[in-house]
Amino acid sequence: MADLEEILKDVEPLVAQSLQAVSNAAGLDELDRIRVAALGKKGSISALMAQLGSVPADLRKEAGARLNTAKVAVSEAIEARKTALEEARLDERLARERVDVTLPARAADIGRIHPVSQTIDEVVAIFGQMGFAVAEGPDIEDDFHNFTALNFPPEHPARMMHDTFFLPEKADGTRHLLRTHTSPVQVRTMLKQKPPIRVIIPGRTYRCDSDMTHTPMFHQVEGLVIDKTTHMGHLKGCLIEFVKTYFEVDDVPVRFRPSFFPFTEPSAEVDIGCSRAGGELKIGAGADWLEILGCGMVHPNVLRNCGIDPDEYQGFAFGMGLERIAMLKYGIPDLRTFFDSDLRWLKHYGFVPLDVPTLSGGLTR
Ligand code: DAH
Repeated sequence: MADLEEILKDVEPLVAQSLQAVSNAAGLDELDRIRVAALGKKGSISALMAQLGSVPADLRKEAGARLNTAKVAVSEAIEARKTALEEARLDERLARERVDVTLPARAADIGRIHPVSQTIDEVVAIFGQMGFAVAEGPDIEDDFHNFTALNFPPEHPARMMHDTFFLPEKADGTRHLLRTHTSPVQVRTMLKQKPPIRVIIPGRTYRCDSDMTHTPMFHQVEGLVIDKTTHMGHLKGCLIEFVKTYFEVDDVPVRFRPSFFPFTEPSAEVDIGCSRAGGELKIGAGADWLEILGCGMVHPNVLRNCGIDPDEYQGFAFGMGLERIAMLKYGIPDLRTFFDSDLRWLKHYGFVPLDVPTLSGGLTR
């Protein structure tokens, strides 16, 4: 027969010791070890309960109640501690894994936008604001669209000046060619669309030429406006506005110099003011001029070749080299580097993908 006093004298210290251990437990694993040590099959409180059977029947009830109270006290303390530890663990995890949604997106590792693409986006943003739509045409052209419809007479030296890449001759004696300028898309646009027309045409162009300032493939952007009363004043206003917005310089002087193109009459070349003081090129008022584009009023022959009556309609056109205006704006010294596919160059001169140029948000940031 177990001695009741003997059993119960151990209960209080056991409970006190367990509660102490529970409140000191630093983690869930440790807490579980304490639970097993007190309440598990071979635990200290369970061991006392196992002795109940040998307590005299008249005392067993009271002894059982006291042991049960002890067991409940320890298991409730363990539960409470468990909840507190779990909450602390969750808080710590939430703090550790917190995402600051106001941080800027990390764009550095996802590549760069090539200066040619950036320049096309900027030009499209500027002319888009003025109401121009974007038109496109094929890189492989025929003689009609690239030359004849644009009023280049047969055997005209301008055809030679373009250093054309011809494709092999076909059975009928004609040869396709790689377009030497974006102007054939003027022809394609006028042939399929009735005036009013207001388009810009960015695209690749090809000439058999290669040095510091020429590559066999390069890019141009063409503009075409056809309406009933469009005149040279509109051409000037439109291009001056473009130059100021594109170069982000308000006081840039713009000069229209008489020139010749078969497809425009009158024709002009446009120069912008710059300074080369201290060996550094700066766009804006200065002692020097830089040529940036060709333009003019669309020649009546061209309108006629495209099925538009020159007695009813008139308009202007312009064309410029995209690499050239990119080199001037971004200080890129050598044209050939545009097409070297050198990632270090792209990292240096390229643009962050998320900075899409807009007039409201800024062309370049
Ligand atoms: N097509 C010309 C060239 O490649 C550029 C040009 C000049 C285009 C005058 C035009 C223009 O539309 O009006 O040199």
